[in-house]
This record gives sequence, structure tokens and C-alpha cells, in this order.
Amino acid sequence: MPDSASSRRLQHQIALVTGGSSGIGSGVAEALAAEGATVFVNYSHSPEGAAEVVKKIEAAGGKAYAVHADVSKEEEVLAMFKEIREKCGTLHILVNNSGIQDDSPFLDMSLEKWQNVINVNLTGQFLCAREAAREFVRRGPQPEISKATGKIICMSSVHEVIPWAGHVNYATSKGGIMQLMKSMAQELAPQRIRVNSIGPGAIATPINASARDTPEEEKSLLTLIPYGRIGEPADIGKVAVWLASDESDYVTGTTLFADGGMTLYPGFADNG
Ligand code: BGC
Repeated sequence: MPDSASSRRLQHQIALVTGGSSGIGSGVAEALAAEGATVFVNYSHSPEGAAEVVKKIEAAGGKAYAVHADVSKEEEVLAMFKEIREKCGTLHILVNNSGIQDDSPFLDMSLEKWQNVINVNLTGQFLCAREAAREFVRRGPQPEISKATGKIICMSSVHEVIPWAGHVNYATSKGGIMQLMKSMAQELAPQRIRVNSIGPGAIATPINASARDTPEEEKSLLTLIPYGRIGEPADIGKVAVWLASDESDYVTGTTLFADGGMTLYPGFADNG
């Protein structure tokens, strides 16, 4: 953590990280808190995971609260935003991070699997972004705290551009997030609300544990990553801090890929 409070890039800001109780979300929550933000760590199924992240943040001298909501349910999202307003008065940063995979070969994919993933990954981001934007507009600018009136960061994936057989529900949700993010960025820029995405590649979290189970699987995964290492949640936390801070004040409507080069078509590195 920086020495003096004044050097913290997110001092006096309130942040919500959906799905903050594990994986990339917990890395992002810890990184925002280390820069001085008060962080609401959202969870859907794991109060224990959220409590653990809050504990870690507090042990490092930061401030955090656990907050429950299944982001695919409108009434739960509304209740979560009400709770945040009651506790802290407003919100400055939303990290729309909750996401699931529910994989299946296309021919066997049930409507339930399709809808589960679209509901959490895409509709959940819409509902949370709409409530955050409404709060930013209600509160109005606070230039002493941040140049932008509000910041929304959508957790996308390399699969917003890389097709993914066996995961069409997931890849479709991420392609949808790209247009959701860009259209919101276009519509909300006049209100000085910045909207961007992070496109992580393979980050070591529970969501892709099955692709890293054995040394052979890990080796095969590494062939897709020119930079030669699997990412860590902290790699994404650093990107989120930058996108939430005034350092990126002129950046809106962009996906920042943090993927060790996975989107560089590594299969073409050797003469195609
Ligand atoms: C998925 C991971 C996968 C990575 C790269 C992510 O969006 O959730 O399971 O390892 O993309 O393919």
C-alpha cells in the first residue's frame, strides 16, 4: 500500500465489485481497496468467500463490506444498490465482474444452460450498470474526488473476439458485453461517465481449473499464451485500478486485453 493517503489513486471513492468473493473479482476488490477505495464485495452463493476477502482487505488497512445479490435478479440488484447508498451515500466505481461458465457441446446445449449464462454474464451486467449509471447521474459530478462522474468497468474476456466451441453460451455473452459496453460508453459520455472493459485471458482461478489440472493440460494451455505464463488475479486488479483512476480519464469505450498475447493469433507465429 502507498505510504501516504494522498498518493492513493482511489481515495474517497466507493466501489462495487460484483462476484468479488473469489477469482478475478477478489483480486480486483483487493487492488481497489489498496488504492484507498471503500469496496463492496458482492457475492451470490458464498458469504464465506466474501467475508474472507473483506477480512483480507481490512487486515491490509483498507475498508470493505460484503453485500449479497444474484446479479441476474432485478429486485436483488435494486436492493443491493439501496444498501450501498444507505451505508456510504453513493457509488463512484462499478466493476461488473460476476460471470459463470456452464459448458456443453452445442448439439446438447439445453435452453437452461444457455439462459443461465446469458442471465448472469450479460443481463447481470446490464442491470448493475443501469443502477450504477442512475446513481452517478443522481449524485452528479464531484471533481474534487474524480474527474469522471462515474466509472463502469465490465469484465469481458478474450472470448469477446475469440470464438469458443463447446462454450457458445459463454462466448456469446462476452460478445454481447462488448456491444453493451460500447453502446453505454457512447450514450453516457456526455454525462462524463466512462465505460470500459477488461478482456482477461487465462487467469488462474476456479473457473478454468479443469484446463490446468495436469502438467499436460497446463502445457497445452501455455501454447495459446505467447508471453509464456498463466495470469494471476492481481494482473487484472492492476488494470482495473488504472481504468478506475483519473490516469485513464480520456479512455472510454475500449476493451483492454490483459491476456499475455492470447488474442495475437499465436497459431500464426510460425508461418501459419
Ligand atoms: C474463461 C477461462 C479461459 C480463458 C481463456 C476466460 O474468459 O473464463 O475459462 O481459460 O477465457 O480461454
